[in-house]
Amino acid sequence: MKQIIDLITAELKKAFEEAGYDKSYARVTLSNRPDLCEYQCNGAMAGAKTYKKAPLMIAEDVVGRLGESRCIAEVEAVKPGFINMKLDDGFVAEYLNQMAEDEALGLEKAKDPQMILVDYGGPNVAKPLHVGHLRSAIIGESIKRICRAMGHEVLGDIHLGDWGYQMGLIITELKKRKPELPYFDEAYLGEYPEEAPFTIGELEEIYPAASAFAKENEEYREEALHATYLLQNGHRGYTAIWNHIMQVSVADLKKNYRNLNVDFDLWKGESDAQKYIPAMIDRLKKEGYAYMDQGALVIDVKEASDTKEIPPCMIQKSDGASLYGTTDLATLVQREEDYHPDKVIYIVDKRQELHFIQVFRAAKKTGIVPESTELIFQGFGTMNGKDGKPFKTREGGVMRLENLIAEITEEMYKKIADNRTVEEAEAEETAKIVGISAIKYGDLSNQASKDYIFDVDRFTSFEGNTGPYILYTIVRIKSILNKYKEAGDSLDGLKIAGAHSESEKALMLEAAKYNGVIKNAFEETAPHKICAYIYDLANAFNRFYHETKILAEEEKAKKESYIALLVITKKVLEACIDMLGFEAPERM
Ligand code: ARG
Repeated sequence: MKQIIDLITAELKKAFEEAGYDKSYARVTLSNRPDLCEYQCNGAMAGAKTYKKAPLMIAEDVVGRLGESRCIAEVEAVKPGFINMKLDDGFVAEYLNQMAEDEALGLEKAKDPQMILVDYGGPNVAKPLHVGHLRSAIIGESIKRICRAMGHEVLGDIHLGDWGYQMGLIITELKKRKPELPYFDEAYLGEYPEEAPFTIGELEEIYPAASAFAKENEEYREEALHATYLLQNGHRGYTAIWNHIMQVSVADLKKNYRNLNVDFDLWKGESDAQKYIPAMIDRLKKEGYAYMDQGALVIDVKEASDTKEIPPCMIQKSDGASLYGTTDLATLVQREEDYHPDKVIYIVDKRQELHFIQVFRAAKKTGIVPESTELIFQGFGTMNGKDGKPFKTREGGVMRLENLIAEITEEMYKKIADNRTVEEAEAEETAKIVGISAIKYGDLSNQASKDYIFDVDRFTSFEGNTGPYILYTIVRIKSILNKYKEAGDSLDGLKIAGAHSESEKALMLEAAKYNGVIKNAFEETAPHKICAYIYDLANAFNRFYHETKILAEEEKAKKESYIALLVITKKVLEACIDMLGFEAPERM
């Protein structure tokens, strides 16, 4: 469906033209004075110079032609030249009724669906997920869902960090602890191991121990580096260990991400890109893109318009080892080959921005991806504690994701158990659902690139701009609709008939903005716009709810119109939270 603002604009354009002015002046915006009007057009002011006329006169000319408008009920030219409009509520009602009938709620899907790859999550295997991984997962999941809702073909790729030095460290530590394992023997042949010789719990203890030890022991570090080298060059036993690590970690990661309602289409990783590296480097050398600079192989990525120095992208160290940038370039080679994406969106800590500028430029310059491929870096800021420093446990350690979820769930459980009388099992389930909304909404309601403060008290509150408040609103609507149905009435075929009060009209106008908001959130890769919208929508609903006797309304037509409005409001809220990556319980 066309956006409601576009329908108004079309009428204004006609009026501008009929009055003898260019239609480009008919730009309509939401009112910034909601007390006076709902939509406004400031084009008369813009046209004053061209037409050498007082803006108010132009505004009056245009208003004079709007008498017959289908969508505008009241229109006024106001000094110095504003055109203030209120919409016809029959028109808005009709618009909402059409939305309700459309499966996509009036969302205009892309005419030319793109192939979009979202690179998010990015955990490093063998290390527990901690709060640092939270933002990429939450923001990425939402962006993936928004792209999909817009009708694009989308793949979410976790892009595991599964090929680095951490693997060499684990191998070295295992060799020290369990020398009896067969894998350290050069002659080991068994490529496909059965059961892993460690659990995820052990692994999570082995890695930090090895990492700390390597920092103080030169010899150990050398050994770990060598083990990394051997693994990367196909050592059979080490490859078997690597398979074990992957198997154990990936199972654990899947569980953790499932708890967050995050789910990846592709479980690829840095290791998958390695086989593309040799041919890629060969070509880049042969075609003159890569050259030796102080012993390292680099690609120049400077551009004339740079205002700050962008260092070359390094793709091979003097010892022949490849780097983070090499892997990301090779991953693009692989993605181009397998999926030929129109767009790749990376959801990564904003401190990695320079790395991605280098990789993107190198990829375009060398033809790894075509010039037309959009490579987007969506950097995110840090999640801080109330002290303004990166979020830590109470003891000052790194907060594991699992523990954070448990803590929030516990907090929600207390709140739910305090004031409700539901069965234990239901309260626990609900606490989990509401807890996830608290975490996700708390994150997504901030512009991704900004740092934000993770405030448990505020995020878990049922009041204010929070996930639980949004869910509470949905549950409230569900409860009214259930009561309506329990009284024997059906929700089928109900239509919104118009607005009977100011708060009802306000709610209608808010709900009608849905398709425009989602389109904008997609174009700007900005889930926070959806949060801002549903907060407004929930507020509009709650005001209407407090001012209106809905179920007690005696006039049947009026009551049915109210219920129809509730149905569409609920659908819109649910579609939005689904795009944010959480859901609402039945009751709370
Ligand atoms: N594993 C990386 C890290 O922990 C993040 C990966 C981001 N994605 C990418 N394609 N480089 O820093």
